[in-house]
Amino acid sequence: MIVGIDKIAFFTSPYYIDMTDLANARGEDPNKYLIGIGQQKQSVIPPTQDVVTLAANAADEILDEADKQAIDMVIFGTESGIDQSKSAAIYVQSLLGIGKSARSFEIKQACYGATAGIQMAFDHVTQHPKSKVLVLAADIARYGLNTPGEVTQGGGAVAMLITAQPDILALDGQSAFYSDDIMDFWRPAYRREALVDGHYSTDVYIDFFNRTWNQYQAQTNRHLDDFKAIAFHLPFTKMGLKALRSVVHDHPSAVGLLEQFEFSRQYNALVGNLYTGSLYLSLLSLLANSDDLKPGDRIGLFSYGSGAQGEFYSGKIIADLQSQKLAEPVNHLLNNRIKLTISEYEKMYQQGLPMNGRDYEFDITKDHNRFVLAGRKANRRLYKDTKNRI
Ligand code: COA
Repeated sequence: MIVGIDKIAFFTSPYYIDMTDLANARGEDPNKYLIGIGQQKQSVIPPTQDVVTLAANAADEILDEADKQAIDMVIFGTESGIDQSKSAAIYVQSLLGIGKSARSFEIKQACYGATAGIQMAFDHVTQHPKSKVLVLAADIARYGLNTPGEVTQGGGAVAMLITAQPDILALDGQSAFYSDDIMDFWRPAYRREALVDGHYSTDVYIDFFNRTWNQYQAQTNRHLDDFKAIAFHLPFTKMGLKALRSVVHDHPSAVGLLEQFEFSRQYNALVGNLYTGSLYLSLLSLLANSDDLKPGDRIGLFSYGSGAQGEFYSGKIIADLQSQKLAEPVNHLLNNRIKLTISEYEKMYQQGLPMNGRDYEFDITKDHNRFVLAGRKANRRLYKDTKNRI
């Protein structure tokens, strides 16, 4: 039986900043950000969106009523969850009207959570072929104003439906993983911004990629020429390029894999980091933009969550992959965003629910998305479904 990704959708904020503007404001050469880091634009998330609404807005694009009844597991991968106890999955399940006979929970391991979710979903659907599992990956990446990590911020959500007989990617069911106790990126519970040792993190990421890639080759006897493309977790797009270059060297497949990498980083360069969703936005970018994907082409996926967990796994393109259908909503979203000045972004960055728990009401009239965060009352977040006026 074939199990894999049947549907995939992406959602982000309608606001962005341009990396040339940010470089100019921070006294850096724009080419450092555009070429050295590999980022062109960065999503800026307004206070009326959090990981719950980002994920609900993403999933809303792909789920029909039959899906909502068939889903019996909702898995939410996030590093920037909104509660220390209650999972974001339960909120999304309720907002979307997904049936209650479901397991709903959150997974945390920096940017790796959604990959654990996909592997769990794969096993579950393999055991129960009629089941559908909704895997959500949503984060808001915050490093702080005027920090070296600022150029690698961003945010958004990817929603994926894992089913039998999928329409997009058939997972191979083989993967290689590696973990170690590493302090490259972490966020203590009292902080809104991550702590990061960025250069060290890049080294560990490349090391974990090489380890898992070698382990995968030994397990499967598949090598570079068995792959059409490799999609990477992309905190900034240069990071994946460095990892890919570390294994392709002058291999005959190098040119093709490097060409496909350009398609796989297109959307990420316009959005920035979305932690758990980053690898899956890159996969979507590849599927939507590559002009050369054929049924049966094998795609590698490298997932990395600082702290650190790495995993390499793979899947094959399904016969009637409809690239245009995948590209249209993302292009529409990204082409219709509003550009903020750096001072507007700095102001928006400081907004958000007060950390002291007091009641608060946002002006939601400017947020035209279906699901919005309206504020907080009695320590409860107030979500609004603007379509159903809840
Ligand atoms: N033109 C072109 N490239 C330029 C340049 C210019 N004018 N000036 C600098 N560069 C290049 C540098 O050579 C470097 O490229 P290289 O890495 O290929 O050598 C790149 O731009 C970045 O420069 P660097 O000096 O290393 O930047 P930095 O010290 O400001 O930090 C990061 C960059 C990525 C380390 C930092 O933004 C960060 O920590 N981000 C967070 C990363 C993260 O989230 N990690 C954990 C999740 S996995």
